[in-house]
Amino acid sequence: SSTPDAPTRNVGPEYRPETEKPTATVSSELSHQNVHILPQTPQLIALLTKIRDGNTQRADFIFYSNRIIRLLVEEGLNHLPVVEHTITTPVGRTYSGVKFEGKICGVSIMRAGEAMEQGLRDCCRSVRIGKILIQRDEETSKPKLFYDKLPEDISDRWVLLLDPMLATGGSALMAVEVLKSRGVPEDHILFLNLIASPQGAANFAEQFPKVRVVTAFVDQGLDDKNYIIPGLGDFGDRFYTM
Ligand code: URA
Repeated sequence: SSTPDAPTRNVGPEYRPETEKPTATVSSELSHQNVHILPQTPQLIALLTKIRDGNTQRADFIFYSNRIIRLLVEEGLNHLPVVEHTITTPVGRTYSGVKFEGKICGVSIMRAGEAMEQGLRDCCRSVRIGKILIQRDEETSKPKLFYDKLPEDISDRWVLLLDPMLATGGSALMAVEVLKSRGVPEDHILFLNLIASPQGAANFAEQFPKVRVVTAFVDQGLDDKNYIIPGLGDFGDRFYTM
């Protein structure tokens, strides 16, 4: 079920002549307004090249994944509302800025999503983090909720939902249903993701048009085992056990 040819583009800053910029495969675009794809910068493409490489060993996989996760968290936070906030600098001048005023929490979809928790903690000190475990039911082959532990007051919080790979979208859809059943409004959910399949991202974005998706890359498609292609293999295995 793979989709159109992967788009290639010259990567590098705008001022540099096209002939001096190398060509690379960049993210496919999606027409859905609620899906935000990180700018396809040379750094991001280089980081993705590292983690996609089957020869990259676990220590490097973790290091480079963490750098992308940091970019996702920083971009995700840009989608939370801020209010005007004026301060006085040490030289007695005012600066009119903004500050974030709401409460947030992270929710990781186990196991791979847990790999994104540290990146969130690095940006949001002492952030609360809930967990959801969804696995494929052997009998029905549909996703099944096995476990969840979420902050009591989650309905008052902005929720950053964490899962690095969005393949069919089955787990992410179920996770959003769990959050909604605890009273979290759809438009208070932000889904942070490293690599999405076009069909998974489109399906998710259509089911939950008010959930914002921030992803680093929309890939080409899925193989017959529902692995993302070209993808990077099994994220959890490569981050935790390989
Ligand atoms: N989960 C992964 O870890 N990799 C994929 O390609 C799809 C789902």
